This record gives sequence, C-alpha cells and structure tokens, in this order.
Amino acid sequence: MSDKIKIVNGKLIVPDNPIIPFIEGDGIGKDITMPSQRVIDAAVEKAYGGARKIDWKEVLAGEKAYKKTGEYLPAATLEAFKEYHVGIKGPLQTPVGEGIRSLNVALRQTLDLYVCLRPVRWFKGVPSPIRYPSMVDMHIFRENTEDIYAGIEYQTGDEKNKKFRDFLINEMGVDKIRFPESSSFGIKPISKDGSERLTKAAIEYAIQRKLPSVTIVHKGNIMKYTEGAFKNWSYDLVEKDFADDTFTWRQYENLKQAKGQLDADKALEAAKKSGKVIVKDCITDAFLQESLLHPWDHSVIATMNLNGDYVSDQLAAMVGGIGISPGANINYSSGYAIFEATHGTAPNIAGTGKANPGSLILSGVMMLEYLGWDKAAEHVYDAMEHVFAKRRVTSDLHAQMEGATLLSTSEFADEIIKYMH
Ligand code: NAI
Repeated sequence: MSDKIKIVNGKLIVPDNPIIPFIEGDGIGKDITMPSQRVIDAAVEKAYGGARKIDWKEVLAGEKAYKKTGEYLPAATLEAFKEYHVGIKGPLQTPVGEGIRSLNVALRQTLDLYVCLRPVRWFKGVPSPIRYPSMVDMHIFRENTEDIYAGIEYQTGDEKNKKFRDFLINEMGVDKIRFPESSSFGIKPISKDGSERLTKAAIEYAIQRKLPSVTIVHKGNIMKYTEGAFKNWSYDLVEKDFADDTFTWRQYENLKQAKGQLDADKALEAAKKSGKVIVKDCITDAFLQESLLHPWDHSVIATMNLNGDYVSDQLAAMVGGIGISPGANINYSSGYAIFEATHGTAPNIAGTGKANPGSLILSGVMMLEYLGWDKAAEHVYDAMEHVFAKRRVTSDLHAQMEGATLLSTSEFADEIIKYMH
C-alpha cells in the first residue's frame, strides 16, 4: 500500500511504495516527464522485482496550474511537498509581470532548501570540449538561500536607492562610489550559519561517498567579509567538527610554517593514504580555469550562490550540456528535497519530440539514491552509458556526434528501458 515518506530524528524513513509528488512543468516539461517516470519505474522494477514501486502523485504549478486554479503556485502544491518530503519537478517558466515571484525561488524559500546539488559526470560517447572528460566526476554544493538569491537590490532613480545611497555616503562615510547619482546597488548577505550548514552538507557527502576532496570556491581575495568569511567559517567548521575524517590546506600551511615543508608534505601524504578528505580552497576565477585543465583535482565543490551559478553551467558544458545535467534542492537538516531538471522550459522545441529527457531522468536517479534505492539508480546509469556509447541520442547531442542515430524524447527513454530488460 502506498505511504508517505517520513522523517524521524532527521532520518528519512522510506516505505516500499512511497508517494512522490511531481510537477510536470511548462514547455518541454510535458514532453520529458512521462518518459522519465517510465525509466525510473523500470529501474525500480528491475532492482526490486515488484517489492518496491513509486506512487507518482501529480501536483500543479506553472501554466497548467494557472489554467486550472488561477494561480501559478497553488498553496496545495507547497503543502504536498511538505507532506510527502521528497518530490521532483520539470522546468517552470518564470511568469512575466510585476510582483510575481519565480516559482522555483518560491519553492526553495518555502522549504528552505539550502543546498543546490549538481553532480557532474561524463558518459562515454557524449561529446565534450575537454581533453579528458572521463576524469570529470564533480559534485557541486551551491548555497541556495543567501548571496544574490536574497534579491536585495535598489534601482537607480528609486526613492529607496536614494535613501540607501545617502545612508552609505552620510552615515557610513563611503566615498568610493564612482558615479553615485547613477548607481544601482545590490547587497550580498553571507552568514556564518548559512556557510556552515552548506559546508557541513558537502563534507558529510564527501565522507559518506568516500570522495577524495572538497574545494571551497570563493572570491575572498576581493570580498573579505563575505566570500573570505565563507572560506574561514568553512575551514573552522571542518577542523572543529570533522577533524578525524579530514585534512585541510590551512592545517598544511600552518604545519609548513611551524615545522617546514617536508613535515607538511608528509602529513598531507599520510592523510591521503588513510582516506581522509582533503579540504582545500580556490579563488573562483582560478577555479574556472583549474576545473577545465585538471578536473581530476576537484571532487566536491562547496560554494556560494553566484559562484555556484557560473561553476554549474561551465561544468555541465564540459560533459554534454544542460540536456543531461541533473540537480536537486535539499535541506539536509529537515530532509525536504526537490529533484529537478536543470534546464529551462525550452519553448523553441516544446512539443516537437526533440527534448532530451536525460536531465530529468538523472534527477530521478539522484532521487533514488537519496531514498537509498542505489541498486535501481545503478541500473539507469548502466543503461544510459550503454545507449550513449551506441550513439543513440536526442537531437541536442545528435548534432555533435558523428554517425549517431537520432531518437525522439520517448524513443530515447524506450532505448534505456530496452537495455535494462
Ligand atoms: P532553456 O534551458 O529553456 O533553453 C536554452 C537552450 O537549451 C534552448 O536552445 C533549448 O532548446 C535548449 N534546451 C534546454 N533544455 C533542453 C533539453 N532537455 N533538450 C534539448 N535542448 C534543451 O533556457 P531559457 O530559454 O533561458 O529559459 C526558458 C524559460 O525557462 C524561462 O522562462 C526561464 O525562466 C525558465 N527556466 C526555468 C528553470 C527551472 O525551472 N529550473 C531553469 C532555467 C530557466
């Protein structure tokens, strides 16, 4: 019998037939949702032979919700995600008009989904612009509630802008605004609490999955009290709460100063040998280069909102683009999680059968892993690897692959299911 996923003492209790709410989404959401669910269902069936099965429950958002209820994000939808704890969604168009919030932002804020998790891995056969795509296995932890997502901006010419500018100049003694009369302003809040919970999630993920490193990505060289503080708070937390499982670059530097390079190198080697997670940091611009040139040096990435935005898209492009990049928004304290396709509604190809369902399928796979249904997740990975290696792909990848066979959205899903059978 279908049942709700429960959270007891911060732990997920998953029944054999969990009810999972899903939002179909706008544009290509309609094209990719059913095929993705078919793939996930087939993998669960293969892994557990009918002992486990997802009970999909549609909830409304976007255009479909507006047509049926007059609202883009009905309260019942938010309630469903709260009640069932784990859900999945297709892309949602941001409604145009004053005062209408982005639906994605509303969902994340309501459930305080503070981690945007983007795993980035390459599938054999998928075209890549880098030399060693097989060495890419990165997991981005992007902070999801602070920084530019706080959305504090004052437009030039506005009353609030003038008030804010006068406050800065008259009360705070700021004299470095080059063109005060025509400046807009944005504020970037970064907190100790927000930084710590993001880093904690990233470190625990690395330890649990036995991943070799966590890289803290920041612009602390320029923004000392926000991005620089993020780096320091992260190192402080790791050295205090995860001392047995980690070794940090800050510890390495301190050791080097105190005892010399040889001892520091020895300690680093010993830490690596004993399977400790190496925690390092990298300035954002250097990281964008580094991750292209030496992707094998970075495993888990912990960063703030804006950096995370840039990093996610670059890394996605390295392994085949947004059509096959999955994502999730998670609150690791409450257990709430929404898995999602990372691309938008692609109105230019909606309804044509050209959409790649890979991003939503792989988001579903992340969801299976989150539920602890790893065996089913592995079946999808294996089958997708096989289908890509056979060069049987949707139009986005077909255009870049020599000798490839063009499949429609649902044919691609069928191909994955066929391999699993
Ligand atoms: P988009 O991701 O929808 O499209 C960008 C390009 O990628 C287009 O050429 C599109 O055809 C292609 N594309 C996207 N997904 C694809 C797939 N699965 N298979 C093959 N090709 C794919 O970005 P755009 O055009 O900037 O945004 C369109 C709408 O989507 C906007 O209203 C935007 O606000 C919304 N959006 C929603 C997101 C979400 O719900 N998480 C994320 C990004 C955008």
